[in-house]
Amino acid sequence: MRILVTGGTGYIGSHTTLALLEAGHDVVVVDNLLNSSQESLRRVQELAGRKAEFIQADLLDTAALDAAFDGRSIEAVIHFAGLKAVGESVAKPLYYYSNNVVGTINLLHAMERHDVRTIVFSSSATVYGASEEVPLTEDTPMNAVNPYGRTKEHIEDILSDLGSADPRWSIALLRYFNPAGAHESGRIGEDPTGIPNNLLPFVAQVAVGRRDKVMVFGNDYPTPDGTGVRDYIHVVDLAAGHLAALNYLGEGPGVRRWNLGTGNGSSVLEVLTAFSAAAGKDIAYEFTDRRPGDAAVSYADPSAAHADLGWRAERSLATMCEDHWRWQKNNPEGYAAG
Ligand code: NAD
Ligand code: WQD
Repeated sequence: MRILVTGGTGYIGSHTTLALLEAGHDVVVVDNLLNSSQESLRRVQELAGRKAEFIQADLLDTAALDAAFDGRSIEAVIHFAGLKAVGESVAKPLYYYSNNVVGTINLLHAMERHDVRTIVFSSSATVYGASEEVPLTEDTPMNAVNPYGRTKEHIEDILSDLGSADPRWSIALLRYFNPAGAHESGRIGEDPTGIPNNLLPFVAQVAVGRRDKVMVFGNDYPTPDGTGVRDYIHVVDLAAGHLAALNYLGEGPGVRRWNLGTGNGSSVLEVLTAFSAAAGKDIAYEFTDRRPGDAAVSYADPSAAHADLGWRAERSLATMCEDHWRWQKNNPEGYAAG
């Protein structure tokens, strides 16, 4: 198939683009490079031994979006492009709503104009908010607690309404849990700009000497060791989930939502222990206050994805840490060095 991938130079998009190329698909990447570099795509092509087309364009630029579809016979879209920093979304809600929600609406209009009605969308477990009912199933009500999460919730609603209004659409809403790790080659991985918001990239930067210590947000949660529990999923498993969803959508129209997680929860201290073992060094940390808005425990019931898509996450937390460390050790400054 010929697939247009928005956000394809980003963390999850680059790993998925590689999986698509390896599976024989043709890929057109559209990204404005706001939070990524074209170096990721160069390395993806090197790993795949095949080219993808790159178009630098912003989803808010409707003419550029139309031009990306024009004459390319796109059959499906995987839509990763978006802003994802929770704290920034609280400070700049309009920026988030316009980039994520308006950007998606522009994309959907361009798809309609070009007769493309198959889309896989990057949603997030963040739509479940601070729900303490675990495991989280696709039927757990959406109740996002910050503007970023609400952009995902609104986009899910928009896509559901679109699918109801026009039954020609095939739509997959994939709710990722906590993506971690990197491709086993160590050539591509997560390269956050500024101070990482997420645990794994922060721990990796401490391990490589870019930061002094990890601040552990709370050790008084009602969990076995008092620290927050999350469902970390290897980014390569996540990428495979997109191919499985795309296959499923090929079988017919409709709107479907799936959790993509492992079904296992790991605490912050368990992550620190696993990363320390992978890196072969101690990782300094210090307990501090809870981070506002954090749930104590979040992990998926991934059984629907297994039943419907035949997909399940295969890689362990130890593998995620080993792969994440290989990427960080080989690329201490991310893609900056080229
Ligand atoms: P990322 O920032 O690495 O990738 C997103 C890409 O989208 C970047 O390359 C960025 O330049 C591009 N982009 C942003 N706005 C754009 C616009 N208006 N036009 C064109 N390109 C634009 O993030 P990621 O971790 O790869 O996340 C991919 C998707 O998955 C996002 O939608 C994110 O919200 C979602 N998600 C991420 C996580 C996570 O923890 N990484 C968890 C759940 C869901
Ligand atoms: C994991 C655990 C923290 C950093 C976020 C978004 C969510 C989704 C994934 C996009 C928690 C603890 C973290 C640190 C710490 N993204 N922690 N010190 O909060 O589960 O989810 O990323 O959709 O929307 O909210 O992930 O990696 O930030 O935190 O102790 O420096 O690590 O408290 O228990 P989270 P995270």
